Amino acid sequence: MIIKGSTYINGEIVKRYIGIEEGKISFVKRAIKTNEDVFEWDGVILPAGTDMHVHFRDPGHIDKEDFYTGTLSAVHGGITTVVDMPNNDPPTNNLKRLREKIKQCSKKACIDFGLYALLSSDVERMMDETSLFKVYMAGSTGAPGRGDLKEEAKLVFDSGGLVAFHCEDETSFKQPGKDLKGYNRERPAESEVKAIKSLKEWPEGRKHVCHVSTERGLKVAKSLGASVEVTPHHLFFTHEVMLGPFGKVNPPLRGDIDHFALWEHLERGEVDIMASDHAPHLETDKTESFLEAPAGIPGVETIYPLMMNSVAMGEMGLSTVVDLLCTRPAEILGIKKGEIKEGYYADLALFDFREFEPIMSNRLHYKCGWTPYEGFRCIFPRHVISKADFVISDRSFVGSKGEGEYIF
Ligand code: DOR
Ligand code: ZN
Ligand code: ZN
Repeated sequence: MIIKGSTYINGEIVKRYIGIEEGKISFVKRAIKTNEDVFEWDGVILPAGTDMHVHFRDPGHIDKEDFYTGTLSAVHGGITTVVDMPNNDPPTNNLKRLREKIKQCSKKACIDFGLYALLSSDVERMMDETSLFKVYMAGSTGAPGRGDLKEEAKLVFDSGGLVAFHCEDETSFKQPGKDLKGYNRERPAESEVKAIKSLKEWPEGRKHVCHVSTERGLKVAKSLGASVEVTPHHLFFTHEVMLGPFGKVNPPLRGDIDHFALWEHLERGEVDIMASDHAPHLETDKTESFLEAPAGIPGVETIYPLMMNSVAMGEMGLSTVVDLLCTRPAEILGIKKGEIKEGYYADLALFDFREFEPIMSNRLHYKCGWTPYEGFRCIFPRHVISKADFVISDRSFVGSKGEGEYIF
């Protein structure tokens, strides 16, 4: 297959022919002579995205999402690689469960995927199957908090693996909040900052700080040499938003100062990646009282389209967005994706900046059926290519269940 169009290469948009063979990019050229059919695209050709932080609820809560609907949603939003978290029911904290999860998810995934394992005493055996581990420093949905796994982390670090941390310090929590402002007071900024500071007591290695929600947290994480992740919900909302329990998430939505600071640091290139932290809960779970509602916000299908709109509106540079959603996550994971370059996987998202539209929950593919971004302007990709195959063509899914591979 050959694709021709305005292509994103090293921060610039240039006219190129992209040759694709056996799943990979075989050439990127200014001009070619060929008798083959060339697919011409009139918009921009970008790398497809990698979302390093999703909760697809499989196994455990497939009423909320499963690995098919999760990956189907991802690909509609231009994401062709996801890494799923281990706070399943039961949690993915031993080799048997990890192997079972790989097997089951392989049957359902439409796109490539990786899996975090929950760091535990079974770490050495799990390292046969993954190099990605997760630590919840405070309890969150489906996972108790653990700060006592330093020896286990050392084993991961010594083998070059990555440990991703959910950073909240439980000893800093206050009394339960009854609304979003109260929830921010319950799990305050200090709790995030204290947890991130404590990472210096952990062994040296590749540390990744998930969903940083405060400016101080971000600065401390960077000073420790960790990679830093920001979510769309912390960028697009503050605790002033009228979402009630639908905006309840860990760490909580913060105030204006942190919110604007995150945008600034993002634009300055001081954040490594964006990830959705797609954490779906059913509307019926969320409409219980605020206190009872589970924390978590869906977002895997809208992360790239929202950021493309920010580019179109001049709020963010295109290269910043591609770095955050494509290039850096792939680099951190050590996979040949996220750049349009010979030898890299042919994972591409074809957008047209003229095609903006409001987000509507009934046009998304989540099982949970809602989005906090209802009515937000965004730009979805018209076509998405995953390892040389069209998986989205003209906005419709043309891939298949089970086509995605476990890649770590
Ligand atoms: O709000 C959250 N929801 N934060 C987490 O850490 C877990 C997630 C979930 O799985 O629902
Ligand atoms: Zn988390
Ligand atoms: Zn999460």
